[in-house]
Amino acid sequence: MKTILYPGSFDPVTLGHMDIIQRASSLADRLLVAVLINPNKTGMFPPQERVEMLQEACAEIQNVKVIMFTGLLADLARREQVQAIIKGVRGVIDLENETTMARANKQLGGGLETLLLPSSSKVEHISSTLVREIAAFHGNVDEYVPACVACRLRER
Ligand code: PNS
Repeated sequence: MKTILYPGSFDPVTLGHMDIIQRASSLADRLLVAVLINPNKTGMFPPQERVEMLQEACAEIQNVKVIMFTGLLADLARREQVQAIIKGVRGVIDLENETTMARANKQLGGGLETLLLPSSSKVEHISSTLVREIAAFHGNVDEYVPACVACRLRER
């Protein structure tokens, strides 16, 4: 069984992430979406809520499993016996950052590969940072996040 790992902060999950999840899920038997917890960062949503939003947003995609993890990505990849990590790339800044991380993860993970998937053009401007900023000023995020996330942002 081929498993691909899609890690991130997902604070919160956006339509940009969903674009990658939908496309990556068709490339593997199982897509493991991992909410990586950084103990030094609090974030907007607590990790458990990020997982719940991802589970709701991915409910229709059969081969997606959402988990939460603290530690090195390479250790998670080894534990879950994944074939590769996948990351979305929106532009040159992402490409530079992700290439550096891919090289580090390859070294830490004993040859672990990272696949870089260019974002679809209609969502390439979307980021969780942008969503948090729009929401903080009570702007409309309906075209940036799944409906379940827009609903939680309105409630806050
Ligand atoms: O959504 P983000 O914030 O861009 O995700 C970054 C993330 C969580 C994937 C990255 O920070 C990460 O892999 N963290 C785990 C710790 C680790 O393995 N660091 C070394 C990677 S080079």
